[in-house]
Amino acid sequence: MSCGAAELRITFSPGRVQLVQEEEVVPGGPRVLVTGATGLLGRAVCAEFLSIGWSVIGTGYRRARPRLLRCDLTDEDAVRGLLHEYQPDVIVHCAAERRPDVVERYTEAAVNLNVHATSMLAKEAAVCGALLIYISTDYVFDGRNPPYGEDDSPNPLNVYGRSKLEGERETLRHCPGAVVLRVPVLFGEVESVMESAVTSLWVKVEASESCTLDHCQQRFPTDARDVATVCRKLAERARQDPSIKGIFHFSGKEQMTKYEMAVAIAQAFNLPSNHLIPLTEQPVAAAPRPVNAQLNCSRLELQNLGVEPRPFTVAITDCLWPFTPDKRWRQTVFH
Ligand SMILES: NC(=O)c1ccc[n+]([C@@H]2O[C@H](COP(=O)([O-])OP(=O)(O)OC[C@H]3O[C@@H](n4cnc5c(N)ncnc54)[C@H](OP(=O)(O)O)[C@@H]3O)[C@@H](O)[C@H]2O)c1
Repeated sequence: MSCGAAELRITFSPGRVQLVQEEEVVPGGPRVLVTGATGLLGRAVCAEFLSIGWSVIGTGYRRARPRLLRCDLTDEDAVRGLLHEYQPDVIVHCAAERRPDVVERYTEAAVNLNVHATSMLAKEAAVCGALLIYISTDYVFDGRNPPYGEDDSPNPLNVYGRSKLEGERETLRHCPGAVVLRVPVLFGEVESVMESAVTSLWVKVEASESCTLDHCQQRFPTDARDVATVCRKLAERARQDPSIKGIFHFSGKEQMTKYEMAVAIAQAFNLPSNHLIPLTEQPVAAAPRPVNAQLNCSRLELQNLGVEPRPFTVAITDCLWPFTPDKRWRQTVFH
């Protein structure tokens, strides 16, 4: 998949914002800036907006490559320069450190990105009048009293959840017209199966020896492509209707533990699952996670902004088939 920057006008500034390619200028049309465009969700968001003819610019950092801009969002001058030069109508802010155990270990760097960079982006979005859509997480809740509505009190159990909640607050403090979209665990078109907690289960499904899998935490696996569609619908509507602001929830509807997801994947590919062993206790070493942070998505649905998710087995088969043994050549050719 390519996330083309349809219009690139960024001034080259070594180490900050880097102009990677200057072509494909598409005049007119709304402009969307997607941060984290090298990531799982950012790629899907770029593809969604490109498909409706918007002018899309995607930024990445370590994985920025031809057709994407390299921008360290923790560099305030770079963020200022990016928005000043590009003047987006909409910003979909996907960039984050989203691995709870990494956030626990490298807290300062993660807070810099998840909180301080978000705060800076929100301030600059307010200055240039862009609609900001901030992607957040169900981990802002403690999981003790699901399902959670948009107005329910957050109580994150880990540093990742706290940093994303801080990011939400900074977003709405500096940009009162912004949208916060909370989503649960994501999967989608991955470059490697390890890119998502859901697709990474493939490794255990494929293993020949016994594997233990969490059968305690209730998850709601959600296709990043559906989230991208929701972002697009929110952007289109919010530009027409200023009442579309504040917090929204979106989630897949099927409740599954990791063990249940792995069994479903095995069944979808006609593979054995009797080597998969359900584990009913959370590992002690990991960052604490909510047992069930199910999101109530009624606000989105009442506004007719929701998306009907495809059944999990259909969607996950679509994402994993390139990694089945006889299709492995596809990775070499296309990824
Ligand atoms: N994945 C999930 O299961 C999940 C669940 C709930 C909520 N979310 C939220 O959804 C959003 C998207 O998650 P994702 O899974 O797409 O994340 P991801 O695949 O891990 O991608 C993270 C993105 O952040 C970028 N990034 C990292 N450090 C940066 C920096 N200093 N400056 C600029 N960009 C930087 C990365 O760029 P490079 O790779 O190029 O460095 C990458 O594009 C996040 O806000 C996350 O909190 C995700």
